[in-house]
Amino acid sequence: MKKLNVQTTRPYQILISGGLLTEVPQDLKELDLGYRYALISDSNVAELLGEDLLRLFRQEGLSAELFSFPAGEASKNMDTVVDLARKMVRAGFDRKCAVIALGGGVTGDLAGFLASIYLRGVPYVQIPTSLLAQVDSSVGGKTGVDLPEGKNLLGTFYQPARVYIDYGTLTTLPFEHLKNGLAEVVKYGCIASPALFSFLETHSERLLRYDAEALEHIIYESCRIKAEVVSRDEKEGGLRRILNFGHTIGHAIEAATNYQLLHGFCVAIGMVAAARLSEKLKVSKEEISPRLVSLLKRLDLPTQIPQGLAPAEILSFLRTDKKVWKGRLTFVLLKRLGEPVFYEEPPEELVIEVIKELSA
Ligand SMILES: NC(=O)c1ccc[n+]([C@@H]2O[C@H](COP(=O)([O-])OP(=O)(O)OC[C@H]3O[C@@H](n4cnc5c(N)ncnc54)[C@H](O)[C@@H]3O)[C@@H](O)[C@H]2O)c1
Ligand SMILES: [Zn+2]
Repeated sequence: MKKLNVQTTRPYQILISGGLLTEVPQDLKELDLGYRYALISDSNVAELLGEDLLRLFRQEGLSAELFSFPAGEASKNMDTVVDLARKMVRAGFDRKCAVIALGGGVTGDLAGFLASIYLRGVPYVQIPTSLLAQVDSSVGGKTGVDLPEGKNLLGTFYQPARVYIDYGTLTTLPFEHLKNGLAEVVKYGCIASPALFSFLETHSERLLRYDAEALEHIIYESCRIKAEVVSRDEKEGGLRRILNFGHTIGHAIEAATNYQLLHGFCVAIGMVAAARLSEKLKVSKEEISPRLVSLLKRLDLPTQIPQGLAPAEILSFLRTDKKVWKGRLTFVLLKRLGEPVFYEEPPEELVIEVIKELSA
């Protein structure tokens, strides 16, 4: 088993191994977070893993109940939070309980948020089951829900007591969601680790075949990088924003396509845009974009803006993006692989030029 420490106000460990799920109940006994566990999962994961985990809890003599909600981003809202909280209250869950978030990023964000406000806060642990959740959303303590006005507009910083990553759970993850998570791994390679970038180049085929050993390596490296960034900047005062590499234009594409394209796919295109912009602004000392495009293609991720999406639409979303930091549009650019820099307000003509080139 691999272990990582996250040094936040409340430090915690990330445990990574294949088959870890079966060890969770025993480990929780030692952690001693409460005497009753509310296991929260979306409908897909509840069916695939929830009942089994519940049985394991009960075999260990732990009191646990499963609460599920319909799978999908559409459930990530206050109504679901209130619905789950009411079910927990009616089932008699008091302040001595703990929440287990078992699922993808939607479950983690939702259950973490619920834990942070339930009876003014109860402990929670993350058991991420999508690649995106295993490499990104389960680490860092950002929780939250969406509003009709936008994504993640209500939320808290609330660190889990532990993160259990069992990459064995990925065998049932749909292929599109595997690739969705891989895009964020490419991001870590770009901003922090040329070695991880090279590993992705060399092992793309294994990864697309869900090879456990290759997955373990990229999950460990991604969590190591995210844990280090989060440990140095828990509440996104500065450094943590390097994790937004590819997300400025990525978010704009996501919003402009009405969230029909998976987040990681939009980030993939956004990373190409950021690399191109780095080159046009002479921020980068080497040509990164051809290598990046070729890696993304190997991982079967998009590198061009979808047809029919007008550059003007993307631009208008760029302006409203919440990464408009103190009113100034900030990009994360690359000097070279592993060396990110913040760049405020690049000339709009250059941004338009890049968007047009990627729309060709
Ligand atoms: N908190 C953060 O720091 C952070 C960071 C990135 C993203 N997010 C959030 O994460 C969410 C996206 O996460 P996601 O992509 O995991 O979405 P998701 O939770 O909806 O999971 C994607 C799909 O995969 C299914 N699934 C999950 N694990 C599975 C498994 N092992 N086998 C089969 N199916 C499985 C889910 O049921 C769902 O249908 C967004 O809401 C985003 O805002 C949060
Ligand atoms: Zn992302």
